[in-house]
Amino acid sequence: MAISRNGGVLRRLPLLLALVAAVLSASPAGACAADCQHLGGATISDNQHFRRWDFLRHRSDRLSIFGGPSASPPSLPPPPPSISISHSRIFHVTDYGADPTGATDSSPAISRAISDAFNYSSGLQLMPGIPNLGGAEIHLDGGVYLLNSPITFPSTGGNIKIHGGSLRASDDFPANRYIIELQSYSPSSGISPSAYHYEFVTLSGLMLDANFRGGGIAVVNSLRTLIDGCYIVHFTSDGIYVHGGHETFIRSSFLGQYITAGGDHREKTFSGTGIRLMGNDNSVTDVVIFSAETGILIAGAANTITGVHCYNKATAWGGVGIHVKVAGRSQTRILNSYMDFTGILAEDPVQLVIAGCYFLGNARVTLRSVNGVMRGVNIVDNIFSGSGYGVDIVGLDESSKRFVVVDGVVVERNSVEGMRLRSTAATASVEGKGTTWTVDFSSVLLFENRIDQMQYTLAPAESTFTNHALRNVSDNRVVIVSSAAVRATVHVSVSQSMNFLKA
Ligand SMILES: *[C@@H]1O[C@H](CO)[C@@H](O)[C@H](O)[C@H]1NC(C)=O
Ligand SMILES: *[C@@H]1O[C@H](CO)[C@@H](O)[C@H](O)[C@H]1NC(C)=O
Repeated sequence: MAISRNGGVLRRLPLLLALVAAVLSASPAGACAADCQHLGGATISDNQHFRRWDFLRHRSDRLSIFGGPSASPPSLPPPPPSISISHSRIFHVTDYGADPTGATDSSPAISRAISDAFNYSSGLQLMPGIPNLGGAEIHLDGGVYLLNSPITFPSTGGNIKIHGGSLRASDDFPANRYIIELQSYSPSSGISPSAYHYEFVTLSGLMLDANFRGGGIAVVNSLRTLIDGCYIVHFTSDGIYVHGGHETFIRSSFLGQYITAGGDHREKTFSGTGIRLMGNDNSVTDVVIFSAETGILIAGAANTITGVHCYNKATAWGGVGIHVKVAGRSQTRILNSYMDFTGILAEDPVQLVIAGCYFLGNARVTLRSVNGVMRGVNIVDNIFSGSGYGVDIVGLDESSKRFVVVDGVVVERNSVEGMRLRSTAATASVEGKGTTWTVDFSSVLLFENRIDQMQYTLAPAESTFTNHALRNVSDNRVVIVSSAAVRATVHVSVSQSMNFLKA
């Protein structure tokens, strides 16, 4: 039975059955079977555009408007609204002549389906100037479609979805474009510089194969875009490119230039970028990037990366897992992610948090100086696992300029095996008899010759009182001296993360 094919409708089954019952009892035929051609007096034509399935879903969606999520039991179903199949807003590209076998170019057919979906007036808007397309769907019907040109959208619109199939660039696909371009071109001025053209567009359940011609998806000046459950391969530029706009949510997706499960003999030649974020407030959640020179490049503010697994290209081959490349405040949060033989590179990081991540295979965090500034950086509670080569878990790249402003940088509480611990805080104790106690923190502290704060306690083993003082903290070596020789233990804690911003 058709309804069993869709979980969304199954969840609404009680309501749907109530509807069918209500409709059947209203039917003049009375005992009409569920697949009969008359429901509630409306005649279903055998128009090829019609799908009974869509009809049922359409009806149940409309009913839920009356019911709502917390409605009382469906004892009083409202009178069924009048039914007209032409009201379906699901556009099947095969109905427009697209070829689901991937043998011939389907770009024009898919383009016609999209034009039809956009040719609609609900009288409602999302952001001013962005018509609400009501939740229309461009349905790919599980086919593989060959494209000679990118899929573009008329300007402007929102509340629309494209889903459920595969798109593959042909050998004639233009170089350096993207399979799907959520981007408005104007004939005179090219890309519109700033206005929002699209809002709440969903791209889901898609496999995109860029056939080494260009990229997967471009999202330009769009608001609240959802890319969900996509598999994007064979890109030469970017798997996903986001420019301007805000709140592109990329989630539960897989991206790779080559299809590989790791340890690929081509790895040293991997190029391109899995996800390029040139905008603010985006979120990447539960995404795997399995081949690309750079996994995620972040060049905007306030982006969140969570649950990402990067094994795109090993550091040893010149790859970067996540590259934070922002001028000024980055406000980037990289959480709960898995950096697998490839690390995180942050340039002049200002307001960056890296927490709860797992670094495998000597992968590490590199803080690179461009203008010599790093402020408000927290690298805490991560796991680092290496193979005993002595790689620092966090390293400074000052090859072009030294860091001159270092303020509020916290590298602490990381769990380290087979790599060299680096930290901005440390504690140690020394025991002995004498007048001088020296604790050398230089092998663990991240920054050379810098102790912002320290505390110590001198605990004599004998019941004597002795004068003692801090003498020196140069080169991260703490020297305590006493006025007389005593047997004592000296406990010292030091920190390099004083935050001058608070002043
Ligand atoms: C939009 O649809 C109307 C019919 O509803 C049609 O007359 C018109 O030509 C269509 N416009 C486009 C651009 O397809
Ligand atoms: C502190 O120690 C350094 C050597 O580590 C030395 O050059 C310097 O003079 C010492 N400073 C004082 C105040 O003793």
